[in-house]
Amino acid sequence: MTKSTFAPQQPFASSGFETRKFAHRREPYWASINAIKQLAVPAEDLIHHYPAFAGHVCLARHLALYEAYKLTIGLAGHIAEAGVWKGSSLLLLAKLTQLFEPESLVQTHGFDWFRGNHPTEVEKHLVAEGSYFASQEDVQALIDLQNLGSLAMLHNVDLSKDLDVFFRRHDHLYFKLVFLDCGLYDVVSHCIDHFWPRLNPGGILLLDNFNHETAPGETRAVMEKLPGHRIHTFPFAQQPTAYIVKPSFDNPHRVSSLMR
Ligand SMILES: C[S@@+](CC[C@H](N)C(=O)[O-])C[C@H]1O[C@@H](n2cnc3c(N)ncnc32)[C@H](O)[C@@H]1O
Repeated sequence: MTKSTFAPQQPFASSGFETRKFAHRREPYWASINAIKQLAVPAEDLIHHYPAFAGHVCLARHLALYEAYKLTIGLAGHIAEAGVWKGSSLLLLAKLTQLFEPESLVQTHGFDWFRGNHPTEVEKHLVAEGSYFASQEDVQALIDLQNLGSLAMLHNVDLSKDLDVFFRRHDHLYFKLVFLDCGLYDVVSHCIDHFWPRLNPGGILLLDNFNHETAPGETRAVMEKLPGHRIHTFPFAQQPTAYIVKPSFDNPHRVSSLMR
């Protein structure tokens, strides 16, 4: 194991499975981030020249979101993200709709309680209490400063129990892409109960932590709620780890494989 000088402590527990595969790259990666920070690059350069600074794993994550989004172009429905944190994936998806569907009514809905992770007793050994905290005001400010308020909307809800009430109030909302990025059993389970029926056939359920040791609750919820589905991955990206295309009648293979 490489000695950690630069790599920060991770907010989740690892037991030596998936996290082990690239563990040797963490320290050199964070050492290079530290060195880049010493350059005191102007913020404008970090924004406009971001691929010069972001690591390939980070870029791959964004490309995977792009690939998932591309699979939904031409399908009706909105985009949902469960777990917004600082807004990077939400705003990427909203900007993709700005680029590729400029005249459609597609909007990107970000669901979060903006309190960070508060795992139950069962999962508290897996993820740090209060990790992934960002304030709703800060994310909203980013949306407003870029005039994206009509494309990206925030909903402050508890994703482990509030979706029934939310969708009773907003019954017309259906989706073509649903990105679950929280990893906790109660959240993923409640989200699948409410988002899956609202995902249009052919749409994509994108999973950030499926089959990952750091979030076994996500895998358990997916296997309990959606057994028998073909689960795909983007082989160039570590996360999102998986996606499911919701079966549709024009794809009988997927429907019949479900009936077996
Ligand atoms: C891993 S972060 C999301 C990361 C984000 N999608 C990204 O790509 O940067 C998980 C988020 O889930 C939120 N969260 C955790 N439990 C929640 C709950 N019960 N209800 C709503 N949001 C919750 C946290 O506040 C946090 O913002």
